[in-house]
Amino acid sequence: MTMTDTATSVTERTPTRKAVLMCRPEYFTVSYRINPWMHPEDPTSTATAVAQWETLYRTYLDLGFDVRLIDPIPGLPDMVYAANGGFVLDGIAYGASFTYPERQPEGPAYMSWFQANGFDVREPLEVNEGEGDFLLVGDVILAGTGFRSASHSHDELARIMGREVISLNLINPSFYHLDTAIAVLDDGRGSAPANIAYLPSAFDEASLQILRERYPDAIIVTEEDAAVLGLNSFSDGYNVVIASRAKDFERQLRERGYNPIGVDLSELLLGGGGVKCCTLELRS
Ligand code: ARG
Repeated sequence: MTMTDTATSVTERTPTRKAVLMCRPEYFTVSYRINPWMHPEDPTSTATAVAQWETLYRTYLDLGFDVRLIDPIPGLPDMVYAANGGFVLDGIAYGASFTYPERQPEGPAYMSWFQANGFDVREPLEVNEGEGDFLLVGDVILAGTGFRSASHSHDELARIMGREVISLNLINPSFYHLDTAIAVLDDGRGSAPANIAYLPSAFDEASLQILRERYPDAIIVTEEDAAVLGLNSFSDGYNVVIASRAKDFERQLRERGYNPIGVDLSELLLGGGGVKCCTLELRS
């Protein structure tokens, strides 16, 4: 066995206990089209969405996560995608300001929840869709722009959190949020170094160069896996909850010593979201 083999295959991975916010999809449907995945003319099943979401919810409980719930609001079918509700770090909650009018009422709804639950809420001046476009990796925040969050929100976030924010340009409308194109495998707060998985074709050349330089050991996923929103996953540093159809990603995770756990959220994929979209991390 070479040095490289040893480094990649025998890494001891240790989970950290996560606190997350979720929203049961009681009013889920696809009644408008704000991303290429959504087809309002096709039928959806709220019951199936709820049942699939329950599986994800139970998976997190089984992993020992602290799972908090926000009440769903009638008329806000996308509220299930809690990741877009804000970005929370060091007890500070940077509120979301949505791009499309259909989702705009979600911003204040999530901010009220943060307020009521003891977070220091900062109202946004700039358009941003929370953890959909902001990912904490080690001491930096990777921030997406191109389709939803305005690049000015990256500066606002940097000021509020006092962290380095690295802007990345998304270029494929199917991967319109950063969390559809990058998965954080290790956030650098556990024992392993910060690391990610990503889909190269989702980024422009300048952003790709940044990713290649910073994360030489990143997992590169296939177009097939990305097309079932396989990257839209949630890791505790050992367990990685992923789309069950992302088979090659699953194999690569296993090879690196992670424990991939497949969940089927096919109904929520009709709205253009997966595992990570349904999950907002609460970092106190
Ligand atoms: N229908 C929602 C939208 O287009 C899906 C959001 C997915 N969320 C995410 N974090 N990628 O806004």
